[in-house]
Amino acid sequence: MDATEPYYLSSGDEVAVFEQCHARSLAVMLKGPTGCGKTRFVEYMAWRLGRPLVTISCHDDLTASDLVGRFLIRHDGTAWQDGPLTRAVREGAICYLDEVVEARQDTVVVLHPLTDHRRMLPIDKTGETVPAAPGFQLVVSYNPGYQRMLKDMKPSTRQRFVALDFMFPPPERETAIVEREGGIGHAMARGLVDLGLRLRGLQDRGLAEVPSTRLLIAAARLIGSGIPVQQACYAAIVSPLSDEPSLVAAMRDLVAATFV
Ligand SMILES: Nc1ncnc2c1ncn2[C@@H]1O[C@H](COP(=O)(O)OP(=O)(O)OP(=O)(O)O)[C@@H](O)[C@H]1O
Ligand SMILES: [Mg+2]
Repeated sequence: MDATEPYYLSSGDEVAVFEQCHARSLAVMLKGPTGCGKTRFVEYMAWRLGRPLVTISCHDDLTASDLVGRFLIRHDGTAWQDGPLTRAVREGAICYLDEVVEARQDTVVVLHPLTDHRRMLPIDKTGETVPAAPGFQLVVSYNPGYQRMLKDMKPSTRQRFVALDFMFPPPERETAIVEREGGIGHAMARGLVDLGLRLRGLQDRGLAEVPSTRLLIAAARLIGSGIPVQQACYAAIVSPLSDEPSLVAAMRDLVAATFV
């Protein structure tokens, strides 16, 4: 396990709530927009709780076998190989399923017996039932974005999790994060955060994805490496967010107004 503490600046009581969930064997769902610190939070909590972290990125081709394991054919016969979920269950790890809505329902149901009083993983193909080792915890992340209207989790899945809501941190905290992660001075970090706040205001005007802390950090890194501020903001923030000429123009104006 990585011995160095991941940098995570909290904005509320999420650390305490997560610790209580861990102590009480409750599964956790992290809800929030892209780039707002969910993954970093899980890395930090795994470090803080002294548990290994197993991360699984979900996608629509992910099968139950990808999670649980499969028989491999070898020269001397077949051998069972645990999947990442099974490994996490045996090791008492924190198992983090990123973007869980991307996984199909028939894949997600294998999580169910782990999230209620049973706390075990039945492996159909071997007949084994693996009890979750102490410290095992299931964490999923979920980005309730605009494109998710049709794609959602079943109530029988959702209701197995304690949900923690993530949002962009308040400006002073976001400034501290951009300063530290982006490696730039306080005043410039504050300027980027102010730009971020202004751009987030464009959501009402049709900007589907608003700039995340991650994008502000990317701009900070470019600025730190000597790229002129407006150019860095355009490349790292404006252009990734939209292709629509009127929105791009509106964003460029805000960049110019912020960094005169
Ligand atoms: N509270 C925070 N403390 C420290 N760093 C943060 C925080 N929030 C965001 N960051 C920074 O922003 C970056 C993006 O955060 P992270 O990868 O955790 O986002 P995410 O919510 O998991 O996004 P996605 O939904 O796209 O996976 C991190 O690499 C980190 O540099
Ligand atoms: Mg993430």
